[in-house]
Amino acid sequence: MSAVMMDGKTLAAKIRRDIREKCAAMRRPPSLAVVLVGDDPASAVYVRNKEHDCAECGITCADHRLPASATQQELLALVDRLNRDAAVDGILVQLPLPLHLDAQQVLRAIDPGKDVDAFHPENVGRLLLGQPQYLPCTPSGIMELLRAYDISPAGKRCVVIGRSNIVGKPMAMLLLQADATVTVCHSKTPDLQSHCLQADILVSAVGHAGLITADMVKEGAVVIDVAMNRGQDGKLCGDVDYAAASEKAAYITPVPGGVGPMTRAMLMKNTYLAAQRRRNG
Ligand code: GUN
Repeated sequence: MSAVMMDGKTLAAKIRRDIREKCAAMRRPPSLAVVLVGDDPASAVYVRNKEHDCAECGITCADHRLPASATQQELLALVDRLNRDAAVDGILVQLPLPLHLDAQQVLRAIDPGKDVDAFHPENVGRLLLGQPQYLPCTPSGIMELLRAYDISPAGKRCVVIGRSNIVGKPMAMLLLQADATVTVCHSKTPDLQSHCLQADILVSAVGHAGLITADMVKEGAVVIDVAMNRGQDGKLCGDVDYAAASEKAAYITPVPGGVGPMTRAMLMKNTYLAAQRRRNG
């Protein structure tokens, strides 16, 4: 069997077109403030991509750059200013922050109504309770991708590898709310293979090229690769051995062109929602 490739790139482009139409119908375009501290090259690329997506969707994007030497007080003062700025609908502080800064305190300082990443404890708690106002971008992008291919998690065995606050934990929560039976595996899980072989839907978010080999994939499974690694050949790759796993899986996401573009599209969706909520008061 050769798996169906789940084309996140094409679906994300369609979602951006829909958002562009909705934004064009608003009296004032939504606005996103992106905060970038320091000069991490990967973060600079992510921020540039977000600016590009905003331009395509008709969302105003304002960049706020602070030097790597910025203090916690300077960063908190910027977040406070953006919270109080009525022209700002969404705020995103690009992670990771330089090590001397307390990221959790910064995320707690963002107005939950402007928290388009859904990283604030209020939004994390609301997700846990099944009462979200924003969904975190990567897990919600994966749920949209599953929906687009008519894959329902209800009653399925789902295995999520990775327990980060950004991906693993919220992914498990969304799958649980979609009536899946969810197992979360991590670096201390013994015999990862035995868990993976049970998975009807396998989500890998580790960041370790070659982690998921074909002998860890159940025949007919859905394989979602969240990772973005640089392979030995210098090319982008995920956690999954794509070619080999494709022979066992029914559906599989490529890297790049799978989850990544969906994550970015969900940020645009959240920014549009933030603007709409604020306009409707
Ligand atoms: N760094 C890596 N992924 C993300 C994300 O989704 N949001 C933010 N703010 N920073 C990130």
